[in-house]
Amino acid sequence: MTTDTYYANGNEVRLFEQAYHRRLPVMLTGPTGCGKTRLVEHMGVLLRRPVVTISCHDDLTSSDLVGRFMVTGGDVVWTDGPLTRAVKDGAICYLDEVVEARHDSLAILHSLTDHRRSLYLDRAGEVVEAPEDFMLVCSYNPAYRSSLKELKPSFRQRFVTLPMNYLPPDREADVVVAEAGIEAASARRLVACATAIRTADEAFHFEPPSTRVLVTAAHLIAAGATELDAAEACILAPLSTDGAISDGLREVAAASLAAADNSSTPH
Ligand SMILES: Nc1ncnc2c1ncn2[C@@H]1O[C@H](COP(=O)(O)OP(=O)(O)OP(=O)(O)O)[C@@H](O)[C@H]1O
Ligand SMILES: [Mg+2]
Repeated sequence: MTTDTYYANGNEVRLFEQAYHRRLPVMLTGPTGCGKTRLVEHMGVLLRRPVVTISCHDDLTSSDLVGRFMVTGGDVVWTDGPLTRAVKDGAICYLDEVVEARHDSLAILHSLTDHRRSLYLDRAGEVVEAPEDFMLVCSYNPAYRSSLKELKPSFRQRFVTLPMNYLPPDREADVVVAEAGIEAASARRLVACATAIRTADEAFHFEPPSTRVLVTAAHLIAAGATELDAAEACILAPLSTDGAISDGLREVAAASLAAADNSSTPH
């Protein structure tokens, strides 16, 4: 199984490539499990660049990104952080869940994401100019956005933004088949189940089931689980801890699995 097969959902591959060739940073937005990480891995292969992933969190400091002086064997030496190494290597640097990082940690990226394309290592007294093949890619899930966690316009407007979402049902079923090797009819039933919950979700306001959970359910099915058990464990159970909501969704899921079953069975 490869981790670089990516099923496109529009013009995002082309736009990503065009951004790369004009040395523009890219921002991917979209719900969990819709293919953001997979797209970046795919583009790394396509553009023949290594991908350096940095997961952002609120303790992440600019020193964690660019580097710091460290004591080794009695000497104090500057040690590049992952961002600096990625810049020097001309890699694709992928900052995952960038909205989790504090604004002051992200400020270091400003000079890298405008015409300067340079990283200012103030403490080391060094300026690192990004080589042509360096690219910065960030991602976040707008559903988690709150007034406390919001990217500044001065940050957002530096990026080519590619909004991502789940694939259309047929394509999503293709992904499930390709990833887990189950039968197409079974994959279509899982997708129908997710689609029904995503539609019902408008009333519930939780993060809808992703392509990721469909792939996980498909792996259980490939290992011998029934579709209902797999849907329960992988699609429904992670959605909500509220029993009443789960009961309602269980009916939606069972009905959609059965309906998809009937529609794919010749009479
Ligand atoms: N377009 C796609 N092409 C191929 N596989 C996909 C696609 N979208 C989702 N998948 C499958 O779903 C899984 C989850 O996708 P991925 O890790 O890219 O999600 P993500 O958007 O990065 O989620 P998160 O925000 O939680 O990190 C992948 O490992 C893959 O199996
Ligand atoms: Mg991801």
